Amino acid sequence: MSSRPKILVTSAAGKTGLPTTLQLLEKGYPVRAFVRRLDRRSQALERAGAEVFVGNQYALRDMQAAMQGIKRAYQCAPTAPNGLHFNAVFIAAAFEAGLEHVVTLSQWLSSRDHPSLFTREVYLSDMLIRARPDIGVTTVNVGWFADNYLMVLDMAAHLGLFAMPLGDGDVKTNAPPSSDDIASVVVAALCDPASHAGKTYRPTGPELMSPNEIATAMGKALGRRVRYRNISEKMMLKALKAHPPSNYSEAAVSQLKIYADEYRRGTFAVNAPTNDVRKIGGREPKTFETIVRETAAERADLRPSFARTLRALAGFMKLLATTPPDLPAIEAVKDFVQLNDPQFSQQDPDWQAIHQPDLDGSGEHLAGVSAKLQRVTA
Ligand SMILES: NC(=O)c1ccc[n+]([C@@H]2O[C@H](COP(=O)([O-])OP(=O)(O)OC[C@H]3O[C@@H](n4cnc5c(N)ncnc54)[C@H](OP(=O)(O)O)[C@@H]3O)[C@@H](O)[C@H]2O)c1
Repeated sequence: MSSRPKILVTSAAGKTGLPTTLQLLEKGYPVRAFVRRLDRRSQALERAGAEVFVGNQYALRDMQAAMQGIKRAYQCAPTAPNGLHFNAVFIAAAFEAGLEHVVTLSQWLSSRDHPSLFTREVYLSDMLIRARPDIGVTTVNVGWFADNYLMVLDMAAHLGLFAMPLGDGDVKTNAPPSSDDIASVVVAALCDPASHAGKTYRPTGPELMSPNEIATAMGKALGRRVRYRNISEKMMLKALKAHPPSNYSEAAVSQLKIYADEYRRGTFAVNAPTNDVRKIGGREPKTFETIVRETAAERADLRPSFARTLRALAGFMKLLATTPPDLPAIEAVKDFVQLNDPQFSQQDPDWQAIHQPDLDGSGEHLAGVSAKLQRVTA
């Protein structure tokens, strides 16, 4: 029997939860993997040695059961409405179970008055989990995942087009991190709470890239020319409505529009890239080209064929014929809490203060902010 403590991983079938579980198992930690359903992903986790727990992360009863015998956990709230509810359930159960260390997946953008309701809920959740001094907390504060570009890889592979509303093609606006590299930082903190409690890390990819460079990297990995096209937000919304990504609800789509705005404002480029994957995760961060190569190797549907090109063209025509979703109406129906005077991250002096360069990669520069948040919630 392992002498290492069992670790709970929430959203364990998700982008960061899955590699977090696998990397913990590789290091010899027993893992309880919280998944929503039994499928090939949960089977893969079980085969790798995880104890699979099926439940609903909105349900306090399920989270209480999942935390039995647990002292350390990775909290990853799905990108879904009621993120605050996900986190409140987790926090209530964590307090009750007497967890000693929690690693939370936060957002690069996390700020008090952000226009995105999801982001404000992340900010509040970060405050709430820090309210109990007996729980050590490590915050992993991630920007625009490399995975987001993979949503449009199909069009790149079959039509040579990388279309997103990311602004000027030549401006270097993001250093995209792979999900594996984000997980490496989460895992380091889970394995060594004493060294990482109270710290905030911002894993990024190895280099800042412009949208044109993203397109070029896609092209090299896919073996064809890919060109970037800066589309309008309206076009992005039409695409998301015509071809909804499986894991994003309409409410989540309304937030993507705001995140694309932050992208064009250069917020993800502030002090990026960081050295956190090397220093904390202990590995060389993957280049974007490598990430696309790995994805292409796993997806036979990205290989060129006449039929797939025709299908991609038909998908493009469908997109053009789709009316964009009415986001204000969606937000009204879902009772989104609105602010009178929202502020993007870079307009918030507190956000600016915690996004100063972390010259030694220690996360120490953020300790004062964590303390401030603890005082506010005390
Ligand atoms: N994408 C970005 O660029 C970005 C940037 C910064 C921060 N983030 C943060 O990343 C987080 C999401 O992390 P991720 O991308 O690793 O997760 P993810 O891939 O979205 O995975 C979420 C997992 O949770 C499961 N799930 C959804 N609702 C559930 C419920 N009610 N009960 C139990 N399980 C449920 C989903 O199950 P199924 O797969 O079965 O549906 C999925 O496996 C969000 O909090 C977001 O704020 C994302």
